[in-house]
Amino acid sequence: KIYPVILSGGAGTRLWPLSRAVLPKQLLPLVTDKTMLQDTVLRVAGWPELMAPLVVCGNEHRFLVAEQLREIGVTPLGILLEPVGRNTAPAVAAAANYLRAIDPDAVMLVLPADHVIDKNVPFAAAVAQAATLVADGALATFGIVPQAPETGYGYIHRGALAAGSADAYQVDRFVEKPDRATAEEFLADGGYYWNSGMFLFRAEGYLRELGEFAPAIAVAAEAAVRLGYRDLDFCRLDEASFSSCPSDSIDYAVMERTRHAVVVPADIGWSDVGSWSALWQVQQGRGADAQGNVQRGDVYLDGVSNSLVRAESRIVAVVGVSDLVVVETPDAVLVAHKDQVQRVKQIVDHLKSKE
Ligand code: GDD
Ligand code: MG
Repeated sequence: KIYPVILSGGAGTRLWPLSRAVLPKQLLPLVTDKTMLQDTVLRVAGWPELMAPLVVCGNEHRFLVAEQLREIGVTPLGILLEPVGRNTAPAVAAAANYLRAIDPDAVMLVLPADHVIDKNVPFAAAVAQAATLVADGALATFGIVPQAPETGYGYIHRGALAAGSADAYQVDRFVEKPDRATAEEFLADGGYYWNSGMFLFRAEGYLRELGEFAPAIAVAAEAAVRLGYRDLDFCRLDEASFSSCPSDSIDYAVMERTRHAVVVPADIGWSDVGSWSALWQVQQGRGADAQGNVQRGDVYLDGVSNSLVRAESRIVAVVGVSDLVVVETPDAVLVAHKDQVQRVKQIVDHLKSKE
């Protein structure tokens, strides 16, 4: 049986000022009129072979997450609450321990709550294909054909064809977030995919690799689940155990090191909506106007092109400019060139340092 595990713990700082610690991007309606968490859950809700989702999120977001699931009529298998954020390796490990206790053969489909996938049918096919590859404990990734030398992604070098498969490969090498020059080499090489950040594996298979490569995380996550307890509809991970867990991502802790990874190429209209320009890009052809503008809220545009303008609480008027991002919220306003929005993260760092 396949259990969707929805990771809903990131901060989405590059989408400031809309995305905040109290209301991060996955809990916001950024792309459609549903929140990204809701879209993620609904995307797989109709697949007959999937069980109800397990959501992993920070304790502070528990009521928002529960409410957003209720709104779309989905009853989760559970909502695991992290007392503190320890990145994705521990979050996935907690989910794996939780599921293994319910079903020793559990297969997990790990899904970040903040991705856009436009082509659901090929996505379902890729997941079905991955499911045929993990029986022996392999860890399946979904590879996206890279478009640019992005440094914010993991890169997967494909090796030989996976046994018994016509179009999935063993992973020859996994490199998380390479520097710019390396990313350019990978792109030129042609044998590399972007890691989509979604995974499929047996809970047991992941825990075995984690135990080998990051035993401290494996031990802490196991204890956090074993000593955790139910509270209303939530499952609270044990605070002392989980707090003592080292912080690391699944990519660095496991995927770069395992020799049992496979990659399923996935042409699925994927975007991780990691920045305002990515959000602008995703909306082209779905809701942008003829001048390439993406607007939301009480917005007035005159002579504006290829811009993203968003008003939350006031009227925002923009005249005679192009390639701008303008995001208005009650307490902060962002105006940036669309090609410079990666620097939004520095704004958040700066504001934090003043706190
Ligand atoms: N529950 C929980 N707890 N979720 C978390 C935590 C945590 O502590 N930290 C991050 N997440 C969630 C985020 O909300 C996001 O949905 C997902 O896990 C991935 O975390 P990111 O922090 O967004 O990772 P990334 O974008 O830097 O890199 C990953 O995704 C890329 C594709 O978008 C890696 O897997 C890369 O290799 C990959 O290319
Ligand atoms: Mg991300």
